[in-house]
Amino acid sequence: MIEFQNVSKTYAGDIAALRDVSFSVGDGELVFLAGPSGAGKSTLLKMIAGIEKPSSGVLLINGQDISKLGASGIPYLRRKLGLILQGQGLLLDRDVLSNVMLPMIVIGESTDDARTRAIAALERLNMLDKADAYPLALSGGEQQRVMIARAIVNRPQVILADEPTAYLDRDNAMIVIEALRAFQRSGVTCIISSHDEQFLDQANRVIYLNKGEVTDAWTSANAA
Ligand SMILES: Nc1ncnc2c1ncn2[C@@H]1O[C@H](COP(=O)(O)OP(=O)(O)OP(=O)(O)O)[C@@H](O)[C@H]1O
Ligand SMILES: [Mg+2]
Repeated sequence: MIEFQNVSKTYAGDIAALRDVSFSVGDGELVFLAGPSGAGKSTLLKMIAGIEKPSSGVLLINGQDISKLGASGIPYLRRKLGLILQGQGLLLDRDVLSNVMLPMIVIGESTDDARTRAIAALERLNMLDKADAYPLALSGGEQQRVMIARAIVNRPQVILADEPTAYLDRDNAMIVIEALRAFQRSGVTCIISSHDEQFLDQANRVIYLNKGEVTDAWTSANAA
């Protein structure tokens, strides 16, 4: 459970990125964050990942106030998250398999375990045949699927995907959205930002942001 209670975020220079935002996301929900460029979508996702902290208000994750997490709290939180963040692409100097293994290596898992899990993750995204390829030899859609494989390799409880369909054509974007929906169906909470409204009919729930404020929100009648 992720709960924003009157959260505001002001960056240096008095830039109000989020203003008095309140909503909660239950376990296993799939939520789209919609809104134009600059609305605050990335800021909101970074807060859930503990990369940015609220300037005021409270953000609870599984009942814990993330502003009060100690030095070891954030890495512990991150282990439960799969992150697909804007501007955090694949490492170009290593092949697909090594990229997907990386989050497991970082937390100290053995190379054998990391390889086994990375292979399984690539298989789920239908990308195993490209395991030995280098990122620049992949299409944009394939790169995005590898980034999803990298995000799920640690079996996260929550996937945060910031603009995972940016720069993709409709077919590749649908493949990415379908992959994320499949994780949601298996019980993983997914929060996906997009300024591309063509996918919103795929959503169980949409939260609209504009200029840092929640301007609208709906939940579909047939939400899972
Ligand atoms: N590190 C930062 N320092 C100062 N201002 C920032 C910082 N990051 C974001 N902002 C500002 O906060 C506001 C919200 O930015 P954010 O990146 O959250 O928007 P967004 O909805 O993700 O936009 P986009 O669709 O373009 O990715 C913008 O006005 C932006 O300029
Ligand atoms: Mg953004």
